[in-house]
Amino acid sequence: MSGASVLITGIGELTTNDGPALTDAALVLDGDRVAWVGAAADAPPADSAVDVAGRAVLPGWVDSHTHLVFAGDRTAEFAARMAGEPYTAGGIAVTVAATRAAPDDELAAGLRRHVAEAVAQGTTCLETKTGYGLTTADELRSAKLAAEHADEVTFLGAHLVPADMSTSDYVDLVCGEMLDAVAPHVRWADVFCETGAFDEDESRAVLTAARERGLGLRVHGNQLGYGPGVRLAVELGAASVDHCTYLTRSDVDALAQSATVATLLPACDLSTRQPLPNARELLDSGATVALATNCNPGSSYTSSMAYCVATAVLQMRMSVEEAVRAATWGGARALRRDDVGVLRVGARADVHVLDAPSVTHLAYRPGVPLTHAVWRKGVLERQPRDQHDR
Ligand code: NIG
Repeated sequence: MSGASVLITGIGELTTNDGPALTDAALVLDGDRVAWVGAAADAPPADSAVDVAGRAVLPGWVDSHTHLVFAGDRTAEFAARMAGEPYTAGGIAVTVAATRAAPDDELAAGLRRHVAEAVAQGTTCLETKTGYGLTTADELRSAKLAAEHADEVTFLGAHLVPADMSTSDYVDLVCGEMLDAVAPHVRWADVFCETGAFDEDESRAVLTAARERGLGLRVHGNQLGYGPGVRLAVELGAASVDHCTYLTRSDVDALAQSATVATLLPACDLSTRQPLPNARELLDSGATVALATNCNPGSSYTSSMAYCVATAVLQMRMSVEEAVRAATWGGARALRRDDVGVLRVGARADVHVLDAPSVTHLAYRPGVPLTHAVWRKGVLERQPRDQHDR
């Protein structure tokens, strides 16, 4: 073993996403990698040991869809929605104004706070986006900040057309100067392909321009109604199409026959009073499904992957195993990664210990904070709870 290694033993139930769950298991982390997985009785020695006393262990959550570079608050909009107002793309403009006005240190502090909040709940790999700047300078600032704090960064200049520009001028800006400025700082490009944001042709133009710059593609699609988002994502080979609230049978078939992941955002659907997506149809058809929080101040202000998992089980007819897999390995696939969302030799040492004997408790005890300890890249980010609380 190379660096400081740690043996995690006493694991009551180990979910690896690399075979069936194990009981009486152990895990060795060496530096930022998983070095060994197997039966506790066969575990090799390590520099230190932690006994988790029968608790469940799983890969850290992979939250593949968040919008954390923002300032301001939209409580009033949320309250209006709960009183019957519909969610529309227009609310994004409120956050754009607040984000543009915020100094760098305020934006950075908010981003750090939200990432820390997620990690404390077991998220160990997190994607976040630009999209509340909508000028070249503001999008560039957001991308640079995001790159400092998130594992994966997405350019979402095509989030909304700013009020002071025509759609065609703005699409030209996004596809040209803005993309050139931001591309070196991001891995992904995304477009909000929806009524009130960007139509099919505009979305195709943005995604094609991004692909020409070497960026991977993601799409916000089929959130507020049926539309071209899923079809376009599959046609252009996007890694993921996110929301998928309104899918036709042919959308489901297209996803099932493609490598594009259907990323479901149930917390957003609840917070915007939309129906929940038909996860069962997607899974039964063979599509790869991810679950993510969509943490943002407008449509889904939660960083809790456990809440998404519980909702998927209790209200979307996913099994606990399917939901946990979607929130870990599914997220990894949505980010085209195979080093996270899985516990096998060589994977990133991202480990989530629950204060429960099995992952079933995530749905059996919804709303209860069950995170006991978190290792992220081999670093103990959240101390085992009893030590931490002492
Ligand atoms: O994924 N749908 C577009 N973007 C975000 C919402 C952003 C906002 O309302 O501020 C989403 O839900």
